[in-house]
Amino acid sequence: MGRSSAMRWLLILASVVMAITMARAESVNKSTSDGLFWSTAKEEGDLMRKAEAEESTAVLNDKDDFDGGFSSLDGMLQWAIGHSDPAKLKDSAEHVQRLSPDELKKRQMEIKELMERLKTPSDAQLMQVAIDDLNNLSLPLEDHHRALQELLILVEPIDNANDLHKLGGLPVVIRELNNPDPEMRTTSAWILGKASQNNPLVQKQVLELGALMKLMKMVKSSSIEEATKALFAVSALVRNNLDGQELFYAEAGDLMLQDIMSNSSIDIRLRKKSVFLVADLAEYQLEARNKAELPFFSNHFFLKSVVDLTASTDLDLQEKALVAIKNLLLLRTTEALVLKDFCGLDVALVRMRQQLQHLMVEEYRRDNVMDLESLCREVELIFRGKLDKVKTWYS
Ligand SMILES: *[C@@H]1O[C@H](CO)[C@@H](O)[C@H](O)[C@H]1NC(C)=O
Ligand SMILES: *[C@@H]1O[C@H](CO)[C@@H](O)[C@H](O)[C@H]1NC(C)=O
Ligand SMILES: *[C@@H]1O[C@H](CO)[C@@H](O)[C@H](O)[C@H]1NC(C)=O
Repeated sequence: MGRSSAMRWLLILASVVMAITMARAESVNKSTSDGLFWSTAKEEGDLMRKAEAEESTAVLNDKDDFDGGFSSLDGMLQWAIGHSDPAKLKDSAEHVQRLSPDELKKRQMEIKELMERLKTPSDAQLMQVAIDDLNNLSLPLEDHHRALQELLILVEPIDNANDLHKLGGLPVVIRELNNPDPEMRTTSAWILGKASQNNPLVQKQVLELGALMKLMKMVKSSSIEEATKALFAVSALVRNNLDGQELFYAEAGDLMLQDIMSNSSIDIRLRKKSVFLVADLAEYQLEARNKAELPFFSNHFFLKSVVDLTASTDLDLQEKALVAIKNLLLLRTTEALVLKDFCGLDVALVRMRQQLQHLMVEEYRRDNVMDLESLCREVELIFRGKLDKVKTWYS
């Protein structure tokens, strides 16, 4: 409903509410209503607003007849009543006073319905409007941007995310991944990531609609915003999701991650997200013990690209790399000797510990450094244990 037609409705509504207020007041207590309410409404706007504040709020709060809906519109109603023509209000009031109790009740129900319609729209309705706008090609690009921004906020609660497909929204958002406008593509990827994060239902829906491959292509975008949002969406789709992971590996997702991790000219946010996903995927493997472990974790080059990240000067990236290495080490199929001889993990760990010792003197991030140091020791311990086992095996 447009703003002007809503206002027109409100004006009509205001007069009806006023009339009913009067009729009820009169039937309940003649002296009060005559004295305070109607006579002032007839005469002066100021007095009417005062009266309205005293009287109509009482009606608006009357739970028996107007339960729900009224409180949020109180301000609008007050405005509408303040802008109504007192003469017209009197007419409708007199008309209403002639109504029988049944007719009055019916009119109240009509008002209630009207109020329901005027009430703040539900999230599902707002999502529907945004989806309709995206489908309306006669709208300018800025309206499509706005529609996506709205969806981005709306899909955050899990119930809304679950509704997105029911409302026909997923195919529309996925279609926008191909929009020539980079901002449209970026926000669409972001929406898909948000909606499928920790949500197996939406993960399944998005995967079935075939969006993963497109998102993986977008990770290679030269726009860093687009690439990071696409990788966010890819991670959200495959996290704890076997079908998603199988598709991911079938589309050479391991190579994609390896290329990002091993290329130092790629934006660090993307490299962090990649190694974080590696840690996550390895952890999923660890938890799914009975399933066969996937081969890509034992690819020597892949493992080296993870180990090499420990040489970064960014502590956060180092930490994420260490967590990934730890999870990889815990996998049965990861070979300790490959990590030692091919990836140089032993050297990397020694170098890292030395670097951390130097950083320890810097007061301001000592806690971070100490955490990292203990993580480093933990990884070293697991690594030594794994190496010892191999040595025993061969001896
Ligand atoms: C009606 O109003 C009068 C005076 O304002 C008051 O004393 C009386 O209690 C009211 N009666 C009812 C039923 O509310
Ligand atoms: C598309 O948007 C235009 C411009 O706002 C509007 O006039 C038209 O009714 C819309 N079409 C549909 C199908 O909603
Ligand atoms: C590394 O990334 C840069 C920037 O994305 C790219 O131009 C370059 O080709 C990549 N290098 C390799 C070896 O893939």
